[in-house]
Amino acid sequence: MNDYKNVCYKVLKKIKPKPHEEKHLISLAQKTLEIVKEKAEKYQAKAILAGSITRNTWLPEKKEFDVFVLFPPNLPEKKLEEYGLLIGREAIEQLKGKFSVEYAQHPYGSGLVEGVDIDIVPCYEVESAEEIKSAVDRTPFHVRYIEKNLPLSLSDEVRLLKQFLTANKIYGADSKTGGFSGYACELLIIRYGGFIEVLKAASNWKPGEVIDVENYYKKEEYKQLHKIFKNQPLILIDPTDRNRNTTAPVTVESFLRFRKLAREFLKKPSERFFSEKKSQPITIRELNRILSQRKTDLILVKFTPPKVVPDILWPQLRRFGERLKEILEETKYEFRVLRSGVYSNGKDLAIVLLEMEVNKLPHVQKRVGPSVFDINDSARFLKKYSKPLVGPFVEGINWVVEVKRKFITAHEKLVDTLNKSSDILRAKGIPNYIADQLVKGFNVISENKKILKLVQKDKEFGVFLRNYFQKEKLSY
Ligand code: UTP
Ligand code: MN
Ligand code: MN
Repeated sequence: MNDYKNVCYKVLKKIKPKPHEEKHLISLAQKTLEIVKEKAEKYQAKAILAGSITRNTWLPEKKEFDVFVLFPPNLPEKKLEEYGLLIGREAIEQLKGKFSVEYAQHPYGSGLVEGVDIDIVPCYEVESAEEIKSAVDRTPFHVRYIEKNLPLSLSDEVRLLKQFLTANKIYGADSKTGGFSGYACELLIIRYGGFIEVLKAASNWKPGEVIDVENYYKKEEYKQLHKIFKNQPLILIDPTDRNRNTTAPVTVESFLRFRKLAREFLKKPSERFFSEKKSQPITIRELNRILSQRKTDLILVKFTPPKVVPDILWPQLRRFGERLKEILEETKYEFRVLRSGVYSNGKDLAIVLLEMEVNKLPHVQKRVGPSVFDINDSARFLKKYSKPLVGPFVEGINWVVEVKRKFITAHEKLVDTLNKSSDILRAKGIPNYIADQLVKGFNVISENKKILKLVQKDKEFGVFLRNYFQKEKLSY
């Protein structure tokens, strides 16, 4: 126990805001709140502080706070957006900051003032969490719940948990991270009473674990919860809305990694769990060795990512990768993808990596037809393959022909598939924004020389490849 305490103490010394940082953030938050309140009045709206600033659970590394503008629920959505942005812009300008528009479910204002990110988010002030119109309307309920239930003495415990998750890249409920939100961290600390206690609990979690802080459900009802929140590894019932899983964004991978990290930390506490490990890009030599050992072929589909928010981009990139695999593996083509991955630098480069198990096929393709006893099917088959290379002949009771294969390499097939209009691409199940983007251009790269060149040019892609090949071990 002393070991944990010692490590946590040392970590806190680093991650706790310094008195001057705290003073700066809090006074800037108060000032911003006053300004926003005043501007909101014109629209019969209120303003509150939300998120980590309200419970002193923010990390100085992030330097951010959140202001929510609460509009009456009868205001049309368009107006809410318009007024919300207007108030945000005016407030940030008055603070002499740099204003920009961010996008979540609704656009909202964000400003950079004295090195601090300020989110100014419009939402509806509704009576109960069941009446919310969009996810942000829940936030005021969260603020009240946390204010009531998280004693200030536990703020640092939340900070430790956030830092532990951040360092291991599982902090954040966005779709790229698939991890834990700030609110989820606060609830976990409330439930277990401290950082170490959360880790102790987590090290025994089973996939489908239910955490019901307010005891809304009986044990007998957990089976029902597993149906409602199917395939969600952690079911943390939102105390402000019993129908919502606060940790719905947590992926199976993040869940298992958190459990593993918790076990490792408890076994051998160390400060290293709290600092991000930067992977090095894979070297050309390493990549060559891996490829000559695995004897797979790599294909990259490279394009400029659409300019959309990460929460749209990442799910679309993943879906695109899955579609490409399905297309290549259609029975008539006979290619096989061993594994795939998606990479983007978020700016001007997106890549789908396809690691091929079957990448090149013979020129001749065998087509096994129906039984000769099925008269109708036989006629149809023989008509379809009226000029085969070899046959028709029979194997046992089945018709067989050998024909010239349409696509010899996966590369050819991909180029053919993707060289289509946006409408056709969409019809093939390629996500909208990506379809529109592919029309403007893409590259299919399958020569190792070119791939190696890309690794040298884009270091982050090199890091991605290292993580792709050296998958972290998970256990049950
Ligand atoms: P934050 O992401 O800022 O989290 O969202 P946080 O709790 O303050 O934690 P840190 O310390 O900054 O990491 C603040 C509130 O705004 C809502 C969240 O649900 C949370 O209640 N929010 C934020 C949204 O609903 N949508 C967004 O796009 C961003
Ligand atoms: Mn915040
Ligand atoms: Mn925020």
